[in-house]
Amino acid sequence: MNELEKTRSHIQRMGTVMYRLCRIGLIVLAVLMVVQAGLSVAVLFSPEAAGYIGPHLENNFLFKALKAAAGLEAMESRYQAAIGCVVLLISYFTVFVILKMFLTMFEHLAGGERPFDVAVARKIRRRSFYMFLFLLYNPVLAVISFSLVLFFSYLMEYGGYIQQRADETNRIQEEMIMSFAEITENKSGQTGQHIKRVSEYSKILAQQLGLSPEEVEKVRIASTMHDVGKLLIPSEILEKPGKLTDEEYATIKTHTTMGGQLLNNVEGEEMQLSRTIALQHHERYDGKGYPDHIQGDEISLEGRIVAVADVYDALTSRRSYKNAWKEEDACNEILKGRGTQFDPQVVDAFAAAHDRILEVQEMFRDE
Ligand SMILES: [Fe+2]
Ligand SMILES: [Fe+2]
Repeated sequence: MNELEKTRSHIQRMGTVMYRLCRIGLIVLAVLMVVQAGLSVAVLFSPEAAGYIGPHLENNFLFKALKAAAGLEAMESRYQAAIGCVVLLISYFTVFVILKMFLTMFEHLAGGERPFDVAVARKIRRRSFYMFLFLLYNPVLAVISFSLVLFFSYLMEYGGYIQQRADETNRIQEEMIMSFAEITENKSGQTGQHIKRVSEYSKILAQQLGLSPEEVEKVRIASTMHDVGKLLIPSEILEKPGKLTDEEYATIKTHTTMGGQLLNNVEGEEMQLSRTIALQHHERYDGKGYPDHIQGDEISLEGRIVAVADVYDALTSRRSYKNAWKEEDACNEILKGRGTQFDPQVVDAFAAAHDRILEVQEMFRDE
């Protein structure tokens, strides 16, 4: 989980707690309102109940104002108490409306993948005027809470705009990656749907390994560029039908470093992940791969994932120089590489998700 996701999960957790508290508050208030309504009727008929309600309203601003305005001093105490009950009812209702507003806000923070949303921020701002209901009781409280809610709504709106921009940048990166992938596929002469299958297999493996949905999506997209370096390898070598000479094979192997160089100066998280995958997808877990002979955890998890996906697809597809392997043989080959060619945990994920991998293979079958 990266820092961004950690912060988001904190916001979600706190939002959930606040949301639950608000809900409890609303339920308590609803009960109190029903009791208060009953009491308002009761005091009209019972002097004892009137005596009970009176002292509770001594300091209520609204009650005092109403009493003064209507000259209630001279009225019977039970009518005073009944009006007092109504005043309390209005008080509860005010708090109810305000709590309801907070409930909407916390519900969004608790449930959303995106805590900051422009539309929700505007909705909160429109409702921030509810805070003036506090004027009935305390003007200072009203001004402070109105300012705080207004400030929060602007912060949320700002966050929402930044989120929109980040989405736009990601979209552009994804489009660039897809075009690169398409050009690579046309150039490298690989059988039709290799890139699509490798990216879908990588997605499944990443899911199986417990990566977050956001990371899984990144792996899916970035893995489409794993062979981008082939754009810089002469077509005669890539499309050569017969056996390659040692020199030609060495040239093909440079598609990893070429891919790395091609994406060296490109900015953006997604592009940088593509670069790592392009560089590392032929590294082996035991360090006997290429180009840098790195091993184990030195290879990024994404690189280790694509290594399995790429080899499995190469084995199960027909190429100009070989037929497709039988499913069982291809699987055994992957299992055989556990801990040597491949990361053991990725191989385990492959075995566990084999059914889903077969579904993808069927879906993107070469014509
Ligand atoms: Fe490759
Ligand atoms: Fe490949």
